[in-house]
Amino acid sequence: MSEAGGDILVARGLRKSYTLGSQELAVLRGIDLRVRRGEALVIVGASGAGKSTLLHLLGGLDAPSAGDVSLDGASLFGMSSAARTRLRNEQIGFVFQSYNLLPELDALENVCLPALMQPRARDGVAERGQELLKAVGLGERLEHRPSELSGGEQQRVAVARALMNRPALLLADEPTGNLDSKTGEAILDLLWRLREESGTTLVMVTHDQHVATRGERVLEIADGRIME
Ligand SMILES: Nc1ncnc2c1ncn2[C@@H]1O[C@H](COP(=O)(O)OP(=O)(O)O)[C@@H](O)[C@H]1O
Ligand SMILES: [Mg+2]
Repeated sequence: MSEAGGDILVARGLRKSYTLGSQELAVLRGIDLRVRRGEALVIVGASGAGKSTLLHLLGGLDAPSAGDVSLDGASLFGMSSAARTRLRNEQIGFVFQSYNLLPELDALENVCLPALMQPRARDGVAERGQELLKAVGLGERLEHRPSELSGGEQQRVAVARALMNRPALLLADEPTGNLDSKTGEAILDLLWRLREESGTTLVMVTHDQHVATRGERVLEIADGRIME
């Protein structure tokens, strides 16, 4: 059966527990979620509520203890890890709170990296990287390394990198969490503008109720479950 109603991402019965010594910590206790193609969904929750854990599962970066995620009808945890890595690289852009840029690469190299990890022709990759950096306002910073950029600029590079492979799905984990409020607002404006231009589906998690108001739909995560 195909996914009903144009849902791009479906999570079913997601559970995640961590074992620390003899203690089992149940972080996600059964999450069911549907994300419609093109929507901007925000999931808000307190620190420690399991937001990052959930987003990592939705992006196939970590495996659940139970349950599954499907992207465009393909079961993420029913495929080999090599296939999952390939699908992730092609279909999913991830923006982390702490940017996660490679320090030894300059801005343009960081942005181009996802494309260079694909087994396809490299023609036009550098040009697209430059266009993306221009689109995020860093056309004059192509050769700067992360240490030579401000936090807001590093996050702009990370946003450009996430869009490099024209992902169908953009996942953002507290992308403004390390930024002052003015710089954070600018990053959110940028994310929302770019997702509108590209038609990309966005799922963002945040602890910040004010940031959450950006969502077309806002869900809350608490006690390892989603509350409407
Ligand atoms: N690798 C891990 N091992 C053990 N516990 C973890 C691990 N990752 C996260 N946790 C715990 O899971 C809970 C949820 O973490 P996280 O998903 O990072 O929350 P949030 O992003 O909402 O702040 C926290 O209590 C955290 O300590
Ligand atoms: Mg987190």
